[in-house]
Amino acid sequence: MLLQTPLLLAIALPICATLALDVRAPVSLVESSGFFGRSVNASYLETLSERQRQVFDYVIEALDENFSPPFLFNSPRYSAWYAVGLLARNGQEDVETASEILKDVISFQFTDPNTNWYGTFKNDPSAPDPGDVYPPLLYTSYDTNIALFVCTSFIIIMEEFQHLLEPSLVTLLKNSMYNATIGDGYRVGGFNGDGYSAGGFIGDNLYPIYSNPWYMRVMSATYVGNMMGDANMSFWGDQWATEAIENFNLYETLAEFNSGTYTGVTLYALSLWGYMPQNSTIVKHARDIITKTWTSIAANVLTPLIAKFNDPYVPAAVLVQLQGLAASHAYFAQAVSPPWDNPTIPRNYTSWTAPGLSIGAITSDEKVIGGAATNQDAYVPATIIWSAGNQTAWFNMYPTSGTIAASASSKGLTIAYPTSKAFNSTLTSNVMTFLLSGFPHLTLSTDFLANGTGVLPGLRLEVSGNVVSSGTRTLVYGSGTINDFPYYNLTYAFDDLGEVPRLMIEVEKI
Ligand SMILES: *[C@@H]1O[C@H](CO)[C@@H](O)[C@H](O)[C@H]1NC(C)=O
Ligand SMILES: *[C@@H]1O[C@H](CO)[C@@H](O)[C@H](O)[C@H]1NC(C)=O
Ligand SMILES: *[C@@H]1O[C@H](CO)[C@@H](O)[C@H](O)[C@H]1NC(C)=O
Ligand SMILES: *[C@@H]1O[C@H](CO)[C@@H](O)[C@H](O)[C@H]1NC(C)=O
Ligand SMILES: *[C@@H]1O[C@H](CO)[C@@H](O)[C@H](O)[C@H]1NC(C)=O
Ligand SMILES: *[C@@H]1O[C@H](CO)[C@@H](O)[C@H](O)[C@H]1NC(C)=O
Ligand SMILES: *[C@@H]1O[C@H](CO)[C@@H](O)[C@H](O)[C@H]1NC(C)=O
Ligand SMILES: *[C@@H]1O[C@H](CO)[C@@H](O)[C@H](O)[C@H]1NC(C)=O
Ligand SMILES: *[C@@H]1O[C@H](CO)[C@@H](O)[C@H](O)[C@H]1NC(C)=O
Repeated sequence: MLLQTPLLLAIALPICATLALDVRAPVSLVESSGFFGRSVNASYLETLSERQRQVFDYVIEALDENFSPPFLFNSPRYSAWYAVGLLARNGQEDVETASEILKDVISFQFTDPNTNWYGTFKNDPSAPDPGDVYPPLLYTSYDTNIALFVCTSFIIIMEEFQHLLEPSLVTLLKNSMYNATIGDGYRVGGFNGDGYSAGGFIGDNLYPIYSNPWYMRVMSATYVGNMMGDANMSFWGDQWATEAIENFNLYETLAEFNSGTYTGVTLYALSLWGYMPQNSTIVKHARDIITKTWTSIAANVLTPLIAKFNDPYVPAAVLVQLQGLAASHAYFAQAVSPPWDNPTIPRNYTSWTAPGLSIGAITSDEKVIGGAATNQDAYVPATIIWSAGNQTAWFNMYPTSGTIAASASSKGLTIAYPTSKAFNSTLTSNVMTFLLSGFPHLTLSTDFLANGTGVLPGLRLEVSGNVVSSGTRTLVYGSGTINDFPYYNLTYAFDDLGEVPRLMIEVEKI
């Protein structure tokens, strides 16, 4: 997952950003749908700025090293993106290699219209098809999002590199895009889809608030509907765009707020607007959403990787903010993800950013555990990130409840489990778990924080509250990894405390 955003942005964004993300110089449809009068076999890269070019060269060369036919990283999805990159470079053998890859990728597309996974691509080419021996489970034995990742990358091919390909391959790509988009249309939040979360069966989780695939579905249906003359598909592209925009306008934030991976993918999808039919709904709104999203990213802590790939297209004031994090500051924002959030009770985000220290927290009252992605590994309700010498260290809360009131200040974190107001949710928890990592040469002893105070490289901590005074503390290492990072697991378990469970962490940078 961590790989996903940088790779996608590096390949796709320099290519489509010239058209799309430069909000100061919108292009007309006429310009965007042709190939700018370039000679047929000239390299697309000549049209990139020097900076885009550097990023592109760096990434594509790294991918060249990792390509072992037929696939990159043994993945049809990543290989499809790599093929786009090869077509953009158009060096010796690149078009031939890309053509082979594209055929191979499509050979791993599911073709049975009677299954929930119709039109998506196999994630692991060596796995069997979902079925009796490999039970259908969304995001496990199949992943319908892959259809959208691949289909949107094919949009770039259709618009920029179609002239490099054999007509029969172009036809194959079109049919593949059509199947991918038809299959995506099977997805209805809460219903189809073999989806499960910590709270049990949830059906498919594709709602407008799941912004990254949702915006990719908008782009796929809008584009492919027009390309294939399927008016119903175009209609749904506009309809889904309207639903996305309604959600965005509530708090002028993406529901997947401040998530580096997801925001990056959403920006990628939005930046395809330049390729869409001019009368489509998304074309009218994409630029505004991009600008507002970047404006809120600037006030937050977000992976500098994405900033690096986008700097040239981001409003100048935002760039200044991203580069000048030296000044300490607090930030507040709201976002809402129905149906997981009650629309009248938004999530509240607070953060404190100071030199070498970031503290962030979310107050949420949700129907599911693990945020809108219903993913406990991906949703971090409270975090402290700091510079520990040469390393970046982190202290993250691991969500075990849907209702968590966490807030960040210059002092640290306050975390509580109030009673759910939004849903009268019964997803209560009697543990607070924190995962810690990023200090490789340190062995923490079992009495770490036993007396309420503790020191980690670069940070002094003090914990208090009824969860600390009445709970049972355990500290273990090696019980798992998160995004490949091993961690210490600090858990407080408690019985009925007779009042709202509460834990405070005060920190001091040392
Ligand atoms: C395009 O390719 C053809 C055949 O390889 C070559 O003869 C021609 O010079 C190329 N044109 C450009 C502009 O590179
Ligand atoms: C698209 O799906 C149809 C079945 O509806 C199948 O016959 C066809 O082979 C598929 N095309 C591609 C390119 O996978
Ligand atoms: C129109 O598209 C929607 C969304 O993909 C789909 O559910 C519906 O079955 C389609 N209707 C027809 C008549 O194709
Ligand atoms: C957009 O234009 C196409 C043809 O140019 C037309 O078929 C379609 O109905 C239009 N859509 C809307 C929403 O006006
Ligand atoms: C977020 O703050 C608002 C007040 O601004 C409050 O009404 C709402 O209940 C809070 N959300 C949660 C989940 O507590
Ligand atoms: C940081 O890295 C440098 C160079 O690798 C090393 O000399 C130094 O000891 C490291 N400092 C710490 C605190 O680990
Ligand atoms: C929660 O329960 C209370 C009391 O039973 C009720 O008044 C309220 O409407 C419920 N709220 C929701 C969101 O279901
Ligand atoms: C708490 O324990 C740590 C060692 O685990 C010790 O260094 C520290 O002085 C203790 N603090 C107090 C207030 O006793
Ligand atoms: C953390 O530790 C607790 C107590 O040992 C355990 O129940 C829980 O599964 C662990 N969580 C993670 C994410 O490792």
